[in-house]
Amino acid sequence: MPLGRLTRLQHEHPLSVAVVGASGDLAMTKILPALFALYCQELLPRQFHLVGFSRTQMSDDAYRSKVMEHLTCRYAPGASCDQKMSDFLACCTYQPGQYDHREDLERLGERLHHFGDVHENRIFYMSVPPFLFSRVAEAMHAAGLISPDGDTGWSRVVLEKPFGKDRHSSDALTRDIGRCFSEDQTFRIDHYLGKEVIQNLLVLRFANLIFDPIWNRSHIEHVRISWMEDKGLEGRAGYFEEYGIIRDVMQNHLLQILALVAMEQPVSLDAHYIRDEKVKALRSIAPVTLKDIVVGQYGTGEHKGKRRPGYLEEEGVGEESITPTYAATVLHVRNRRWDGVPFLVRAGKGLEATMTEIRIRFRSVPGNIFAEAARHLGPNELVIRVQPDASIAFKVVNKAPGLRISLAERDLDLSYALAFEGEIPEAYERLLIDVIEGDKSLFIRADELEAAWDIFTPVLHDLEGCSLRPQVYPYGSPGPDSANALAAMYGATW
Ligand code: BG6
Repeated sequence: MPLGRLTRLQHEHPLSVAVVGASGDLAMTKILPALFALYCQELLPRQFHLVGFSRTQMSDDAYRSKVMEHLTCRYAPGASCDQKMSDFLACCTYQPGQYDHREDLERLGERLHHFGDVHENRIFYMSVPPFLFSRVAEAMHAAGLISPDGDTGWSRVVLEKPFGKDRHSSDALTRDIGRCFSEDQTFRIDHYLGKEVIQNLLVLRFANLIFDPIWNRSHIEHVRISWMEDKGLEGRAGYFEEYGIIRDVMQNHLLQILALVAMEQPVSLDAHYIRDEKVKALRSIAPVTLKDIVVGQYGTGEHKGKRRPGYLEEEGVGEESITPTYAATVLHVRNRRWDGVPFLVRAGKGLEATMTEIRIRFRSVPGNIFAEAARHLGPNELVIRVQPDASIAFKVVNKAPGLRISLAERDLDLSYALAFEGEIPEAYERLLIDVIEGDKSLFIRADELEAAWDIFTPVLHDLEGCSLRPQVYPYGSPGPDSANALAAMYGATW
């Protein structure tokens, strides 16, 4: 975890970035804009070059125009922006080719060898559908694009989830990639780890004195982690039908958040110590069983005054599809700190709002002398809002001003927008800087991936094996009723 501000001067060697799948959504809306943001802040090496590689036939200029549509002037306000854009775009070129054709990748290699320098640092960003990961890595290897790290530079590959569909297929992918890139060269992205509030979790817990003594089963009643989107598929049926919400969000983004909440303090900020503790926390979680999970699928509904189609009406979705768009579950972390504390986790699309939040509910005050006056109030709760409107609030009970004793619950409230100045970086900006710096603390290690799959693989197989039909909830609602019943079983409400 790098501390302090980086500068471009720290990167003395030239850097070439190959974006494989360069004309797709991820490349256009996230990767290229994030690189431009770094460029504007002078955080890229002075000698920087990007080659977009994909199947579409396009000239360099056509590619540049396409990229330009997605760049924003966040870090280059006013007149300087146009100049910065054209300087950045001058560093971008394009090479058409088939993803797994060795000869095409050799041509990509020639383009990457742009600076003719003996020292070559290379990043390969795989922005292609996951079924292509292994084939592309093999073709890159065969084309001689990847050199082992050494005095003449390094090669790194960046991959994004989904990493397989269960433990077995994920292991196979790890082996395939491992034949071409070493684990050290492999950067598995979970973009939630690049979000500001998620990065703050370790700081909040370990740079403050007050939280650790109460961060355990003696003081915490339960933890709730909610991920909600008020959007539907947005044209991603092909992908979503195959994966569903558990694989799309729960097994990765939400488990990562949970690991950061539950883990012990690492020995230091060194990536391997942080990841050791996350793996330990994940390994302490019992695999989910059918009795502890609820699945749902959005049906027709109304949201923001408009009729919204149900999942089965979305283009590309099978008439009989039982792919869950909602899941709620309870995870049990079986260790001394957390034994008996339920971690309730839910994720859903087509809901009433878009929001990601962690709620840590404390126990009631024992022998409370204000019990009578406080009977309408809940116990303390720490609410960490990841998005939108990042904030951290602590619900505490107060005496409401007045001549009588009357208690009121109010928030000790930290809103990021009010408390901190300046732009909040996008997750991909932070993650790309870390790839360049070789810092892996925000990336998923192979054993972490195994541990995460072990939690969900049995229940995914059970759900699919018995073809369980998800409970339908109206688009724009809070989700299926059965999720409330599940929470109630553990004395909680969402
Ligand atoms: C992606 C999922 O990983 O995260 C999407 O595949 C989801 O389904 C997206 O919409 C949400 O990311 P964010 O950063 O917008 O919360």
